[in-house]
Amino acid sequence: MGIARFSEEWIEQVRSAVDIVEVIGRRVELRQSGKNYVGLCPFHSEKTPSFTVEPEKQFYHCFGCGQGGNVFNFIMATENLTFPEAVIKLAEEKGIPVPVISPRERRREQEREQLRQVNLLAARFFYRNLRRPAGAQAWAYLQRRGISGELARSFYLGFAPEEWDGLAAFLQAQGIDLGLAQAAGLVTKGKRGYIDRFRGRLMFPICDHLGRFVGFGGRSIGEGQPKYLNTGQTPVFNKGQILYGLNWAKEEIKAQDQVVIVEGYTDVISLFAVGQRNVVASLGTAFTSAHARLLRRFCSQAIIAFDGDTAGQRAAWRGMEVLHASGLQVRVASLASGQDPDSYARSQGAEAVRTWLNSAQPFREYQIDRIISQHDVETREGKLAASTELVTLLAQLTSAVERDEYLRYAAERLGVREESLAAEVNQKLGIAKVPPVHNRRNLKNIPKRRRPKPPLEAGEALREREVLRYLLQEPDLLAELQQRGVSPEDFQHPEYRQVFVSLSQSIPDAQGTAIASRLLSLPAPTANWEDCLQSFLAVLQRRRLRKIEEKLSLLENDREGFDVRMELYQLIKEYFDIYHEQSF
Ligand code: UTP
Ligand code: MN
Repeated sequence: MGIARFSEEWIEQVRSAVDIVEVIGRRVELRQSGKNYVGLCPFHSEKTPSFTVEPEKQFYHCFGCGQGGNVFNFIMATENLTFPEAVIKLAEEKGIPVPVISPRERRREQEREQLRQVNLLAARFFYRNLRRPAGAQAWAYLQRRGISGELARSFYLGFAPEEWDGLAAFLQAQGIDLGLAQAAGLVTKGKRGYIDRFRGRLMFPICDHLGRFVGFGGRSIGEGQPKYLNTGQTPVFNKGQILYGLNWAKEEIKAQDQVVIVEGYTDVISLFAVGQRNVVASLGTAFTSAHARLLRRFCSQAIIAFDGDTAGQRAAWRGMEVLHASGLQVRVASLASGQDPDSYARSQGAEAVRTWLNSAQPFREYQIDRIISQHDVETREGKLAASTELVTLLAQLTSAVERDEYLRYAAERLGVREESLAAEVNQKLGIAKVPPVHNRRNLKNIPKRRRPKPPLEAGEALREREVLRYLLQEPDLLAELQQRGVSPEDFQHPEYRQVFVSLSQSIPDAQGTAIASRLLSLPAPTANWEDCLQSFLAVLQRRRLRKIEEKLSLLENDREGFDVRMELYQLIKEYFDIYHEQSF
């Protein structure tokens, strides 16, 4: 998913090599009408064609739904690709070699490709092993768990033999340098050469969303610990960015505009088995904003269906906030303690699963219910304690409409007057919060900066907008921003990001231009450029802090705990460096 930056000339080369009528014509039935072509719009349903392709301008536009743009926008929209991915796709179709900017970046991409190749070979090796006599025990285990041969094939399940160097020997015979296999996390170097990292385990290959093999989860089928051994961090496998199952589920996620998020590999497989094919799993780690952004590309609604145990519920709570912050509508499908989606699907069947998912609750309601259920609200103390927690929760809601909505709900559930609860929330919102003194040794005490200032999100968008306003008026300022390391990802507002991309790549796309002219018609920023820039950079730093907080909690909750100490140390150091530099 690396962000490749291409030269303008190259992008132009790709654009002029493709014909928009041909590209779109392969996906939409077009007929000529004067200079243009028309067809049924792929972005909304219609009976008479209002979707127009203009070969002269190399643009498409739908008069029905307003979608439009150039050939890259079309590929991005229909195939859920990012801009670089769309350009690469078209370049490859035309046989135009994809340049890599620096030799260093080229080497890195080559290495990543090699690592994926090794993973693919390993996946094949494991796959064949499961279907040989050596895999009989694992096969029996699958049967016991109700995973059919067909399902095992769909998910490319395999078996790592109970030998020290089964995979190592196989790879070597294929001419693979075992140093590479080590970099892929498949073998480790022992005293007498390389040994397999996965032994006697049922193997779940993990792919990125483009379906490339990047890692494995290996489940012990006997007493071996840990229960699951996963590929560690490698250049192609970062658990904070990969979602198990996305490659198989993405079409269905798009079609339903909805994703179901579970915790484990087996949850994905069992839900699949009962016809629920829009499911992904978060690999036993906390949900990150990168996960959320990835999903946001495919759908607008998420259902969290985590295990019914306390760990699962805690992870779910964090996950919902992250998903919500990225703009997804979040609901929660809860399960009784001791259950997970896998056991539920197998014991209750397809119909029950559908009903259960359909009854998922809006996540704020879920949070309120959960707070109330954790206290004995029949007693005065319990009621007070619950109300304190509810007030904290409600005060965090940045939208006043949302706050009112859930105030009503919370008051009703708790059995108090809405006005009393509202008064407390307002009081809380009025109080300036002093950051607590933190203790370096305890991560839990890191002050949560997201909470105190409610309208932060809106403020951030404004900072982004101000900077862009200046940029549109004085394109020369672009160089200064780039020099400060500002990149498109630093703009979180999708429209602003698009404007920034088109500015920095000088690609005049219809959408970008429309947004730009809208921006220019807004009142000019009152502050001068230098002040706007400083506030914007401060926003970027704050975001970095939030990212680190998220990463820290991810590491804290990592169920494996490999080599995390060094990373923890570096993150904490960076956190406090930024923290002390800032004076929010
Ligand atoms: P669970 O313990 O809920 O596993 O962990 P599960 O999927 O229900 O497994 P079965 O049904 O007992 O086989 C959920 C996920 O957390 C990660 C794995 O990704 C797992 O699917 N995990 C769990 C680990 O990485 N390591 C572990 O030791 C345990
Ligand atoms: Mn589970």
